[in-house]
Amino acid sequence: MNHPIKDRFDRRIDYLRISITDKCNLKCLYCRPPKKIKYFAEDQVLKDGEIVKIVQIVRRHGLRKVRITGGEPLVRKNITDLIASIKRTGIRDLSLTTNGIKLSKQARALKEAGLDRVNISLDTLKSDKYKMITRGGDIRLVWKSIEEAERAGLTPIKINMVPIRGINDDEVLDFASLTIKNNFHIRFIEFMPATCSGLWKKDTCIKSSDILKSISTLGKLEQFEFRGKGPSRNYRIKGASGVIGVISPLSDHFCNYCNRLRLTANGKIRPCLFSKKEVDIMTALRSGASDEELEQLFLHAIEIKPQGHSLNEENASSSHIDTMSKIGG
Ligand code: GTP
Ligand code: 5AD
Repeated sequence: MNHPIKDRFDRRIDYLRISITDKCNLKCLYCRPPKKIKYFAEDQVLKDGEIVKIVQIVRRHGLRKVRITGGEPLVRKNITDLIASIKRTGIRDLSLTTNGIKLSKQARALKEAGLDRVNISLDTLKSDKYKMITRGGDIRLVWKSIEEAERAGLTPIKINMVPIRGINDDEVLDFASLTIKNNFHIRFIEFMPATCSGLWKKDTCIKSSDILKSISTLGKLEQFEFRGKGPSRNYRIKGASGVIGVISPLSDHFCNYCNRLRLTANGKIRPCLFSKKEVDIMTALRSGASDEELEQLFLHAIEIKPQGHSLNEENASSSHIDTMSKIGG
């Protein structure tokens, strides 16, 4: 297989995050507004065959890793067929980020279709608070999904937790303690500004360094590399089964070794989460572009990938991302 392409800043681009729907069955208060949001019309959303075609094209340029996101990816119909078709293109690491509401029933079929692993969003361990944060979700469904995913071998199970001051920051140690007996990867993600939520304020975002300081009261934190790449810096509490990760887009951004592109549900390649620059691949696909022309669009997206985003603790305003829920984090 070809080697991954390097961009202008010598970064290897080998990871594509594909948002397969902008719809979600939850309304998490940090991710989207409570009111109805306008979804893409059905014909504006990439079809299975179109997604697979794009993966085939970028595979020729060394793509190794695909993550399926949403909205909530499991609300899309026939997802197992889509997973099987993507896996057949030869993707080595095929994963999915989900809220876990609908996963329990599909875990086994997804594994059989070729999905390697899942990352599950869970921001509290308390059922009332879960209902509040997700505006109506049932936490029992998420735990059932975590059990089924483990049973099906969709491992390692990574749990994404966004600590927000005054909302769930009192649960950081409870989450971290879960790793003592369970082989979970619990990842604490700094709360990023998303205009849609209106909740983001500088002091609601908790820095990764503060999270690690607080967790170190549970035991010695040893550095732990897990597959090395990606935004998460990983640790293990001495003697624990699982892993603690921190993802620090604000306090310690990972742009220098960013290896990813995003494909939006409506067929645009987005080189950086925080940049509005996009390359429209759907229009080309639907007007009969050749494989070479599609390849050129992909290469152009790599060419315009910015060196980094301008987001940091000082200048973070709540205007960097329109709607996190549409792009899937
Ligand atoms: P693995 O480590 O391979 O499991 O993948 P991942 O950590 O990239 O996947 P996941 O979707 O779980 O990412 C966790 C969260 O990190 C996302 O939901 C985003 O909030 C954040 N994140 C991922 N990629 C980026 C990125 O390129 N930029 C920024 N700022 N945040 C990102
Ligand atoms: N800040 C940080 N992470 C976010 N996510 C969604 N919105 C935000 C935000 N404002 C993450 C969720 C989930 C993934 C889909 O995106 O934690 O794991």
